[in-house]
Amino acid sequence: MTDNLIEVRGLKKWFPVQKSFVERLVTRRQQFVHAVDGVDFEIRRGEVFGLAGESGSGKTTTGRLILRLVEPTEGSILFEGVDLAALSDEEMRRMRQRMQAIFQDPFASMNPRMKCGDAIGHSLEIFGVARGEEKRRRVLEMMERVGLTPASILYDKYPHQLSGGQRQRAIIARALMLHPDLVVADEPIANVDVSVRALLLQLMLQLKQDFNLAYLFITHDLATAKYICDRIAIMYLGLICEMGTLEQVYRNPQHPYTQALLAAVPVPDPHARRTAPLPKGEIPSPINPPPGCRFHPRCPFAEEVCSQELPHLRPVPGDEGHLVACHRIHRA
Ligand SMILES: Nc1ncnc2c1ncn2[C@@H]1O[C@H](COP(=O)(O)OP(=O)(O)O)[C@@H](O)[C@H]1O
Ligand SMILES: [Mg+2]
Repeated sequence: MTDNLIEVRGLKKWFPVQKSFVERLVTRRQQFVHAVDGVDFEIRRGEVFGLAGESGSGKTTTGRLILRLVEPTEGSILFEGVDLAALSDEEMRRMRQRMQAIFQDPFASMNPRMKCGDAIGHSLEIFGVARGEEKRRRVLEMMERVGLTPASILYDKYPHQLSGGQRQRAIIARALMLHPDLVVADEPIANVDVSVRALLLQLMLQLKQDFNLAYLFITHDLATAKYICDRIAIMYLGLICEMGTLEQVYRNPQHPYTQALLAAVPVPDPHARRTAPLPKGEIPSPINPPPGCRFHPRCPFAEEVCSQELPHLRPVPGDEGHLVACHRIHRA
């Protein structure tokens, strides 16, 4: 058995572009948003795998594909070596217990008319694991573990009666009730107060230890990713441009886009050099993206080949496990 929990192979998701009536008359050709355009990666048991990049790069879609909330256009997702597409509805239903999600907006993902405790324990009922007093007991225990205290009082509160940090703790508790192996956390701290962000990240790391979880941690913020991830993939317009351990990617970034993103991370030291802005230039449209490297219109090192051939993700020479998709590195 490998220690890969998830293997993603050649994964693509194209969304058809809605056209107006006039546009349909002018062109027959259906256009697609290449939200995810062929990505490969693994998530190992118990690790935090980060997916980072600017907004619109396809991170959320990748997370939703893994959870099978959307169907892939192409490619496959293996869970412990089993192709999710091959599962029957009943098998997929059981598989869902092992993969849970924490989304960005706790308000949108909580039913406003359901009491906090009932919402946290809802999956226990749905999957026939526990109900009544037993459900309440398990929920109270989980609420204590995620710091929703006093649990017996907060159990009966409605989402709008909780603080932002408490709501996000409730979402985390809900995700863990069925003891999943993987939690897809999509910008889990983006909408909470800055003062509670570090606490929530600490909590997520603690819970990972306690429950032996793996996270797919999605963020646009490399400073947050640095705090929590073991390995990280950098996405740009539907493709992974660099991937490796946190150490490899942060200490020795190879792709010009990764270098630019890291240079733009604010440093909490007033004497440190100022952060650099991201390179200007046109961000190509994810609708029928141009040939060649997706980053070439913004890249300070672009050469002719970069606008013609798509670079593939390949090992960085002399740095095992570190991959980059850049002609500059692999020219020779
Ligand atoms: N349901 C959808 N229909 C059409 N386009 C979509 C849909 N979901 C996402 N997209 C497009 O796919 C691209 C990637 O989006 P997303 O995965 O949300 O990126 P990220 O999470 O990195 O910001 C964007 O251009 C977005 O507009
Ligand atoms: Mg997103």
